Amino acid sequence: MFDLPDDEILPLSREHVFWTWSAQAKVDPIAVKRAKGVYFWDVDDKRYLDFNSMTMCVNIGHGDERVIRAIQDQAAELAYAAPGMTTKIRALASKAVADVTPQGELSKVLFTLGGADANENAIKLARSYTGRHKILSRYRSYHGASAGAMAATGDPRRIAWEPNLMTGVVHFLDPYRYRSTFHRTNPDIPEEEFARDYVNHLEEIILYEGPESIAGILIESVTGTNGIIIPPQGYMQGLRALCDKYGILMIADEVMSGFGRTGKWFAVEHWDVVPDMITMAKGLTSAYAPLGAVAMKPKIAAAFDEHAFASGLTYTSHPISLAAALANINVMREDRLIEHAAGMGSVLRRMLTDLGESHPSIGEVRSIGLFGIIELVKDRKTKEPMAPWNESSSEMTVLKKYCMDHGLFLYTHWHTVLIIPPLIITEEQLKEGMDVLDKALEITDQAVK
Ligand SMILES: Cc1ncc(COP(=O)(O)O)c(C=O)c1O
Repeated sequence: MFDLPDDEILPLSREHVFWTWSAQAKVDPIAVKRAKGVYFWDVDDKRYLDFNSMTMCVNIGHGDERVIRAIQDQAAELAYAAPGMTTKIRALASKAVADVTPQGELSKVLFTLGGADANENAIKLARSYTGRHKILSRYRSYHGASAGAMAATGDPRRIAWEPNLMTGVVHFLDPYRYRSTFHRTNPDIPEEEFARDYVNHLEEIILYEGPESIAGILIESVTGTNGIIIPPQGYMQGLRALCDKYGILMIADEVMSGFGRTGKWFAVEHWDVVPDMITMAKGLTSAYAPLGAVAMKPKIAAAFDEHAFASGLTYTSHPISLAAALANINVMREDRLIEHAAGMGSVLRRMLTDLGESHPSIGEVRSIGLFGIIELVKDRKTKEPMAPWNESSSEMTVLKKYCMDHGLFLYTHWHTVLIIPPLIITEEQLKEGMDVLDKALEITDQAVK
């Protein structure tokens, strides 16, 4: 199609590419040549087991012919139509997304290009619908890199851009049991009481901020890069109740936790909670094409029946991306990938627990479905992390390098290792990755005090 010798890909990229999230002179990218299933290969034909689904997004795995064909067919039939028009694929894909929302209750869908603009639009919808201004979100969160989504983001990626971000965001604490501020002296508190404390903390903030000024509470249903923090029993229900009590919209950011990642279509289903809006991207197309979406309750859409929603995107409902989404959802159904992810989730949990028992540098493991994390510590008693807050450390760098050298592609974040493989992964493939990790952890074990 397009010709460039393999050995020229890196030099030409270095000359012309501007890299995101990176110091330009320090980037060391893998030149990827092809990918299939849970593996990808670089230009030297080195094979990597993909334990991060690339950017936590290739949920159905690489190179699925059914999705590729759908994209090709759609491009040949109709590559683009204007936002005010509709198409066969727009009608079908909107219905397919609505159908997978909890009990099909979020039946109106606004398509965006990715996760950040899904959150931007959810915030605009919440503000316009309620006539209120403030958005509450959590500290340990990432919601995207555009100005509004970055303002909602709680983690340090926000700080680089302050104060030039959207106003009106207030952050609150996450129910992070392993390092809970409120429970240092009573770590064994029953789960529902623990959840209640964090719901009470949120209610206190709502009251201080003035409930009548709060449009929405935006939360990752299961926190992603900030620690795979799984809500304790009662927490999501408590949040839902607070939203109902104060007329606030509950917005679940399922950009990372959606589309089978936790063993359900959306993570909120684990707690039988129906948010007012769900934002999604990543697994929506398994990254075969860029796409995000906001699914909302019909009452929110109906509020714009008589006056316009004052926003838009040239590429909303792009037919090629929608073809990828519809084919992706069909693949998930045909291959029963949600059920498979739930089953493999139990296998991953067992493997993580075993790893935790044999490595003193593991402070805690957490997982839900195929969404897992290892927290590395220098001291299990004090929980001193293997890398300081918002930094890396030589141990973490060496651990990551060992994995990459041994063909295991994964994501490390500060003192944590994330395990987020494609949902199609088998027990043997999980074990293949865990065996590499088992050896790599000998490096961090040496740093234990
Ligand atoms: C939970 C969450 N929300 C939003 C986003 C932003 O999505 P995007 O990078 O597609 O804009 C991400 C990206 O990692 C995410 O993990």
